[in-house]
Amino acid sequence: MRIPFLAGNWKMHNTVCEALNLVQDLIISTNDVKDREVVVCPTFTALQAVSKLIEGTHIRLGAQNMYCAEKGAFTGEISPPMLKELCCRYVILGHSERRNVFGEDDELINKKIKMALDWGLHPILCVGESLKQREAGETKDWVKGQVEKDLHQLTPSEIEKMVIAYEPIWAIGTGKTDTAQGANDTIGMVRNLIADNSSYEVAQKVRILYGGSVKPGNVDGFMAQKEIDGALVGGAALKADSFARIVKYEEI
Ligand code: 13P
Repeated sequence: MRIPFLAGNWKMHNTVCEALNLVQDLIISTNDVKDREVVVCPTFTALQAVSKLIEGTHIRLGAQNMYCAEKGAFTGEISPPMLKELCCRYVILGHSERRNVFGEDDELINKKIKMALDWGLHPILCVGESLKQREAGETKDWVKGQVEKDLHQLTPSEIEKMVIAYEPIWAIGTGKTDTAQGANDTIGMVRNLIADNSSYEVAQKVRILYGGSVKPGNVDGFMAQKEIDGALVGGAALKADSFARIVKYEEI
């Protein structure tokens, strides 16, 4: 039984003060939520303050990125022990914005995943196809290739600690979404791939999310799908009421 996972990726939004207000509201509006994991991923500058505020609550903390070294001459980067020190449990890796705006490739993402796991962090690996790939009918091949490269040489016990988010790039921030059935199919393919490359048991443990314009109005449909274990939410996670409604999706 996989615990549903609802995570907010705030991207480059919210000052410390705004972050605290949002999380304070979220603590109150979701405090009756049971059997669901609620995660917020603020910017680096807000992690410490948010970490203190959520101590002892049901909300968990994730970072949006990290570098694959413990320390050293890497100007502008943040290391896994720095995230651990702030009680981060998760770290988003391989988001399409990191890949496309900052030029991260699968080799680097694979290194980051290994390093995160070595430090006891749970990566939230993002994968997904472009519109061009979608229109060319290449979605499954592309996503399969990304997952294989990003999880290269990971052991089964490492893979089961992962969360994976299928985020079609054309659905991010556009208001367009994959269909619930379409997302379920691609996510099912990813789970089968993990079963083939690792084991059935491991594949049954890994939580695989959908991301891309998830909103209060469409979350119920995604969460009704058998293979979809949660959502990675951008824009709709920036308001407490809309993220709370997503967290409280209704079983249909
Ligand atoms: P939106 O929910 O704004 O489309 O963003 C999705 C996303 O990129 C989450 O990581």
